[in-house]
Amino acid sequence: MADLTTHRPKSRGITQWWSQWKNGFYSKLWVQDLFSRLPIFARLSRKEGEAIFQMMTGFVDTQILLYFVRSGLLADLKEGPLAINVLAQNAGLDTETLRLLCRAGVALKLVHVHKDRVSLARRGALVLGLPGIAELIDHHSILYQDMADPTPFFKGDMAYQLAAFWPYVFGTMGTVNDRDVARYSDLMTKSQFMVARDTLRAISPKKNARWLDVGGGSGAFVTQVTAKHPHVTATVFDLNGAHNGALGHDFIEGSFFTDPLPEGFDVISLIRVLYDHSDDTVRNLLTKVYTALPSGGHLVVSEPMLGDPHPNRFGDTYFAVYTFAMQTGKTRSAKQISDILKEIGFSSVKIHPTKRPFVTTVIEAIKN
Ligand SMILES: C[S@@+](CC[C@H](N)C(=O)[O-])C[C@H]1O[C@@H](n2cnc3c(N)ncnc32)[C@H](O)[C@@H]1O
Repeated sequence: MADLTTHRPKSRGITQWWSQWKNGFYSKLWVQDLFSRLPIFARLSRKEGEAIFQMMTGFVDTQILLYFVRSGLLADLKEGPLAINVLAQNAGLDTETLRLLCRAGVALKLVHVHKDRVSLARRGALVLGLPGIAELIDHHSILYQDMADPTPFFKGDMAYQLAAFWPYVFGTMGTVNDRDVARYSDLMTKSQFMVARDTLRAISPKKNARWLDVGGGSGAFVTQVTAKHPHVTATVFDLNGAHNGALGHDFIEGSFFTDPLPEGFDVISLIRVLYDHSDDTVRNLLTKVYTALPSGGHLVVSEPMLGDPHPNRFGDTYFAVYTFAMQTGKTRSAKQISDILKEIGFSSVKIHPTKRPFVTTVIEAIKN
């Protein structure tokens, strides 16, 4: 372990005394022994033990899940149960290793095993069936390679592979080739449908609204907008190459770094766009949105956000670190985004509560 020098102010107030006493108290073995025998405390200490174990071993779960996806083990089970030795043969593993993996898969609730026959458990079927989940699981290996040594990772002393994976965040479309933009857009498209569902549960556009989705990629989001609200006309604004030419909506090519946003829309949405960018870029982009909207126009921001007021595992552990690794990205709380919106001039900024904060949180704001 690294020898870390701690710098601490010399003053020793009551808070510091209490903190030291508490830390010493919890780490004493006799305290732990006592806690494990007292009814309520026993549950508490077991839970703490489990939580520490979970944090320590979570990477093993992650890699088992990745193997189930990448090796095609889950996909093999899609059509029905298979014998362990057949699965082993398909995966090119010996039967004992496959048995070990299947036991782990049972513990993670990915598969069931009954009399040496393996079938998909509900969780495994969801991983396989929900659009984009398998691709999302797979692309995380880039982040985990970056994080293999957390010291240079958090010091910023390294070349982040994840930043190379999302190059468009660094500049204008001239610096990014169309094929790369199309590849990233595809990953976002596949993972879009849950975000769109939760966003459209919160937002109801008025009849015949004209909707512009800025950074809308392939148009997966607006496709769901118009499917749910057929009277709405939708347009995507994005870099060249991000769009797949899907019918049912218009596409305007441009960059919000260099171009003004098109006018004439009642609603402008930014779906999973802000968290890719620095505060300056976000402020400029939101100002462009404000300028482009008519009076009474709506802005919809939807993306995963920090836990507010309390940090949580989704926003503050995962998304904050992911966007940190992108280098120009930053996960923000709903309040931080709302404050910027109010500064720019938006009124009635509303944060819509969402049941799945790991998918998205939605903010709606109106231009005066
Ligand atoms: C994280 S993806 C989100 C895509 C889509 N909104 C979704 O949720 O699936 C960010 C999108 O912003 C687009 N984007 C990035 N920089 C841009 C720029 N300067 N101008 C316009 N679009 C940009 C990307 O091409 C990409 O489609």
